[in-house]
Amino acid sequence: MDRLDGPPRLILVADLDCTLVDHDDPENTHLLRFNALWEAHYRHDSLLVYSTGRSMRSYLSLRNKKPLLTPDIAITSVGSEIAYCGESIVFDDVWVARLSEMWNRDIVVEETSKFSQLEPQPKRSQEQHKVSFYVEREHAVEIMKVLPGILMERGVDVKMVYSNDYAFDVLPGGSGKGGALTYLLEKLENEGEQSSNILVCGDSGNDAELFNISQAYGVMVSFLLFFF
Ligand code: GLC
Ligand code: MG
Repeated sequence: MDRLDGPPRLILVADLDCTLVDHDDPENTHLLRFNALWEAHYRHDSLLVYSTGRSMRSYLSLRNKKPLLTPDIAITSVGSEIAYCGESIVFDDVWVARLSEMWNRDIVVEETSKFSQLEPQPKRSQEQHKVSFYVEREHAVEIMKVLPGILMERGVDVKMVYSNDYAFDVLPGGSGKGGALTYLLEKLENEGEQSSNILVCGDSGNDAELFNISQAYGVMVSFLLFFF
């Protein structure tokens, strides 16, 4: 953010999988076209923010496979981490401290383990401020009705995010992609660098709350299903 002289002309916030990155296109046609456009017309006065459910580790491994530009900021692990990406990657400790206020990972793991329908995602998808599962929609709907109350009684405030009809994330309250972007926009405003042009792009459940940010314009990416 210090890279720019004044407020960014545009803040572009893009999800990666199935939004910026088309896994069915080995040529990366659209991604390369976007990269060229960004470098030629936006890089010098705008901010590029990636916003992904992937952990930082998983995002970095995607960068080995797809020609992704280095963003200014990466919101990773469904908004439970924010990192500034210049020469090196620097995590936002203030955000981490804020998320830790009413969060206790052990209690979340203990209470969620009582729901047999919740199948834990692999260890590599679990983070300090993100406990993730696979679950069918009908069970997710029921669990989402009761889990916040159970955890609040134990002093833990959570946000639950359901994506793609299988992924269920339990995150600190106030977190998520929308929470992280709101925090970043406040930070920019406090630094006198607020932009009036904010564009958010995404395709799945964990992107939904980005579209509730009132100052932001949105692009909802969809795909076509062909039935024969
Ligand atoms: C990514 C993460 C996964 C999460 C999902 C939905 O795929 O790896 O843990 O559940 O996004 O947010
Ligand atoms: Mg996506």
